[in-house]
Amino acid sequence: MKNLMPMKGLLLIAGLIMAGVSMAGEPSADVGEKIYTRAFGRGCGTCHDVQPNPNLFESVNKLSKEELTKVLVEGRNAMPKAMDQIMNLGPVKSAGLTQDQAVDSLIAYLKAGKK
Ligand code: HEC
Repeated sequence: MKNLMPMKGLLLIAGLIMAGVSMAGEPSADVGEKIYTRAFGRGCGTCHDVQPNPNLFESVNKLSKEELTKVLVEGRNAMPKAMDQIMNLGPVKSAGLTQDQAVDSLIAYLKAGKK
């Protein structure tokens, strides 16, 4: 029985690694939609569904992911910084998304177009 102890340790470590893997998130257009409709309380659409503000469903085809991320992180003119808002949303947290995956989710939603 004594020499089973090291095995137990290994199993524990393996278990922790597996838990870590299953907790890691995956980008999804569903979460992207929640970002679009819920960020800042009433969603990005409060501003972006209104002319003459840029329509994000068009912007997504014009901006690179890097350019889009930069606007979210730094803000731009009347566009508020949005990344903290996005990362603090319930659906983003519970999906366990990294910042990169949250941006991918938003892009996936915007590219699919409004339902
Ligand atoms: C308070 C109004 C407001 C809210 C809320 C808002 N935006 Fe904006 N956003 C703007 C304005 C105004 C601009 C144009 C900025 C400029 O002219 O430089 C802009 C620009 C952008 C751009 C650049 C678009 C382009 O074509 O260059 C992106 C990307 C963007 N916003 C994403 C978002 C996302 C994602 C959200 C929600 C998380 C959001 N915005 C919420 C007002 C807002």
